[in-house]
Amino acid sequence: MTTLGILGTGQAGSTLARAAVTAGCDVVLANSRGPETLRDLVSDLGPRARAAGAEEAAALADVAVLAFPYAPGARLPVEQLAGKVVVDTNNYMAWRDGVIAEVESGRATVHELRQGQLPASAVVKAFTHVQFHGRHPVRVPSDALPGLLRLARPAGAPHRKALVVSSDSPEAVEVVTRLYDDLGFDAVDNSPLSESWRSAPGTPMWHHHVDGRGRQELERDLRRATRPGG
Ligand SMILES: NC(=O)c1ccc[n+]([C@@H]2O[C@H](COP(=O)([O-])OP(=O)(O)OC[C@H]3O[C@@H](n4cnc5c(N)ncnc54)[C@H](OP(=O)(O)O)[C@@H]3O)[C@@H](O)[C@H]2O)c1
Repeated sequence: MTTLGILGTGQAGSTLARAAVTAGCDVVLANSRGPETLRDLVSDLGPRARAAGAEEAAALADVAVLAFPYAPGARLPVEQLAGKVVVDTNNYMAWRDGVIAEVESGRATVHELRQGQLPASAVVKAFTHVQFHGRHPVRVPSDALPGLLRLARPAGAPHRKALVVSSDSPEAVEVVTRLYDDLGFDAVDNSPLSESWRSAPGTPMWHHHVDGRGRQELERDLRRATRPGG
């Protein structure tokens, strides 16, 4: 039984937790305000979910998830995450996060910067281009479901969608590939982290993130991307 330690319980963290418990994982959830603020969410998710502080959630995780934006100098449970696969759902958005010169110039990807914050962990960029909220406008009732749940299909189903995974650790790519499969998606490996700009907001694949892409279309979109600052 895999335990996901999910740090961040906004749209991304709470929706991923819902998908994970449905797929049979246990989840330990943490936000920045403390476990007492997560009572309703945990009760809604049922017996596979519990709340904790960020350090405890990181310590209990088989696989950890950071579901909040990158910030230089952020306080992270570095020790508790050491030796673990750490999934980073973050997208760099200058309007939200402020301008990060290394990313804007193409000298580094935001996920390489996250890896720098967690030198003893295996950081993986994943889940960054699937919507954790409903489709707008709602055309049919299923559009109200978050993209992660609405687009999921069993393995081998026709028109199954694919999600991108990038890491400097092949083992971490394998872990996320299995997690994607359990949650209803194929994986496209776009490693290492220095190549992960190919799936950043504004790139060709990004224009299809509402309804998703199959594996081959996604691979083609990644090849067509042009580097920021290049
Ligand atoms: N929303 C989407 O559809 C979507 C899709 C793909 C990727 N993403 C990416 O996923 C990330 C999260 O997005 P979101 O929409 O879920 O954001 P959000 O609604 O703003 O939620 C952020 C969460 O992170 C928590 N948090 C912040 N710093 C933390 C820390 N150091 N330790 C533990 N928890 C911390 C916040 O806690 P408090 O509630 O206590 O403040 C909040 O629960 C973003 O980087 C975004 O770019 C989002």
